[in-house]
Parts: sequence; C-alpha cells; structure tokens
Amino acid sequence: MMEDSKKLEEFQAKIDADVKIEPKDWMPEKYRQNLIRQISQHAHSEIIGMQPEGNWLTRAPSLRSKKILMAKIQDEAGHGLYLYCAAETLGVKREQFLKWLHDGVAKYSSVFNYPTLSWADIGAIGWLVDGAAIVNQVSLQGTSYGPYSRAMVKICKEESFHQRQGYEIIVNLANGTKEQKQMAQDALDRWWWPSIMMFGPHDADSAHSNQSLKWKIKRESNDELRQRYIDKTIHQGEHLGLTFPDENLKWNDKTKHYDYSPIDWDEFWNVVKGNGPGNKARLAHHTKAHNDGAWVREAAIAFQEKQKLKSKIA
Ligand code: 3HC
Repeated sequence: MMEDSKKLEEFQAKIDADVKIEPKDWMPEKYRQNLIRQISQHAHSEIIGMQPEGNWLTRAPSLRSKKILMAKIQDEAGHGLYLYCAAETLGVKREQFLKWLHDGVAKYSSVFNYPTLSWADIGAIGWLVDGAAIVNQVSLQGTSYGPYSRAMVKICKEESFHQRQGYEIIVNLANGTKEQKQMAQDALDRWWWPSIMMFGPHDADSAHSNQSLKWKIKRESNDELRQRYIDKTIHQGEHLGLTFPDENLKWNDKTKHYDYSPIDWDEFWNVVKGNGPGNKARLAHHTKAHNDGAWVREAAIAFQEKQKLKSKIA
C-alpha cells in the first residue's frame, strides 16, 4: 500500500509537470482503464464515421468531389488505425476492442448515428462534425498519455483539410440556386445539434471529467470546448446567409460568448443508448465487414507465420 501511494505521488508529480506518461511507465489502474475506454471509443468513432460519408461516394456530383471525399474517408480509416495502435499500448488487443464494440459494450460518437440524406450532409459533416472534432482533438494534443498525444498531432493536421472540404461544399451550395441553398440550410438544421452533442454531457453531469482533468487526459472540459466550437462556427454560417436552428442563439457581450438554447439530453442519451436512426445499421455493417474480412486477416497471419518459420530454418 505504502509503495503504491508513493508511486501515485510520483505519478501525479509527472502529470503536474506535463511529463508524458509512456506505455512502460507505472500508472494507476484507473488511469489505464480510462484511457483504454476513451482512446478505443475515439478509434471506433473514426471507423464508424466512414459509413455515413461512404453512403455518398458513388453519388458525388463530380470526379473532383468524389476524389476529395475518397481521400477524407481514407484519412478517417488511418485515424482509427492510429488510435487503435495507441490504445493497444495499454495492454488490450484490437480484437478485444472490436468485440466490445460489436457486443454493444463500447461506445462511439453518437453523431454518426444520423443519416446522410443529401450531398449537403457531406458538406455539413466536414464543416460541423470535423469542425467540432478539431476543437476537441487540438485540445487532446496536450493529453498526458504519450502515444495518444502524438496520434492527435498527426490527426489534427489532416482534420483541417476535412473541415475545409466540407465547408467548400456548403459554400458552393449556399451560393448556388435557391434549391441548393435550401439543401445547405436543411443540412445545417439536421447536423447542428448532433455536432454540439459531440462534446458530451455538461461538465456537472460528466462521469469522467473531474478525474480526466486531474490526470490531464482531458486538458479542457466538455463545456469549454463546446463553447469554443459554437463561438467559432456561427459567423461561418451567417456569412453564407444560413440560419442556425436555435432562436436563442445570440452573442452575449458580457460573457463574450454565444448564448444558446438548452441541449435536448433525452435525444442525446436515447441515441447513445442505441436508439438513434442509424445505430443498428452502423453496427450491423461494421460486424459484417469485419466478418467478411476475416480471410484477409487469416491469410496475412498465415503468411507471417510462414515467413517466421522460413527465417528459423534458414
Ligand atoms: N457520443 C457517444 N457517447 C458519448 C458522447 C458522444 N458524443 N459524449 C459522451 N459520451 C459518453 C462517454 O463515452 C461516457 O460513457 P462511457 O463511460 O461508457 O465511456 C459518458 O457518455 C459520460 O460522458 P463523459 O463526458 O463523462 O465522458 P468523457 O470524459 O469520455 O468525455 C468525450 C466524452 C468528450 C467524447 C471524450 O471521450 C473525448 O474527448 N473522446 C475523444 C474524442 C472523440 O471521441 N471525438 C468524437 C469522434 S471522432 C471524430 O469526430 C472524427 C472526425 O474525423 C469525423
């Protein structure tokens, strides 16, 4: 007991001094478990997030927009693999993460359970969902766990391209015909609130934030990041003549932030609990793709074993 409390003291001193915690360092079991939870769920979000966008790959309005969307979706796959690798350094195998996902034990960001009804939704996802992810992930570059922090630095570089490609789609539609501008407005109406919910419950209702902030897993709270995202996004929409679906959205000169309406937490938890419009389809698609790809994994492992045997015999 004594030894652990001394180790805990030394651990917290490293955290307070912004010394990164590395895989082989001593860490409290709760720190490890919290990271396994957050990083693997972050990875799941990147991979599941490919589905709503993939829905429009074959229907992109031009070869250029198809190539850009293809590049973005490919980036998301890379982000997911990067984050699974970071999570595996905590002593859990990828297969286990995927089992927790398929068994409905692990979460992924609720925002990916909404359907992409028009091409404008692809713009709204890049502009708003990736825009929100950037705010969250730029902050996470300062996270105390080394592999997670370094993964964030690489991912953030690509995320800014994602946000820009989405905003370009919205700009083109907003400056297009009346019908195209209406498409952009409808997509903003559909994606604004789910993008705000990406930052999680209010700080007072967040199960993990206090400990995550103490251990600098999180560097800023859910509400701080949510507010930063709102403050930086409003003028981007208003500049295009779009209206945000919140009649209480207004600049507060005292707080120097935008005030906004209460979030519909019933909707949030309903979707988180698996009853969103797309939850069942997303998981079924992921499970089928994983099972259909089993032969590729088996072949790669068999090849690796054969190579190992050959090098032993040689
Ligand atoms: N969707 C689903 N579940 C959510 C959620 C959301 N938007 N927000 C919170 N939750 C869950 C949490 O996972 C937690 O449940 P758990 O204990 O079963 O894991 C519970 O609600 C309580 O929430 P907390 O605020 O206490 O949880 P956290 O401290 O983990 O904070 C978070 C939530 C801010 C999302 C944090 O986990 C985080 O920063 N995660 C990493 C970033 C991330 O996942 N980003 C979203 C998707 S990535 C993306 O958008 C890629 C882009 O390229 C498109």
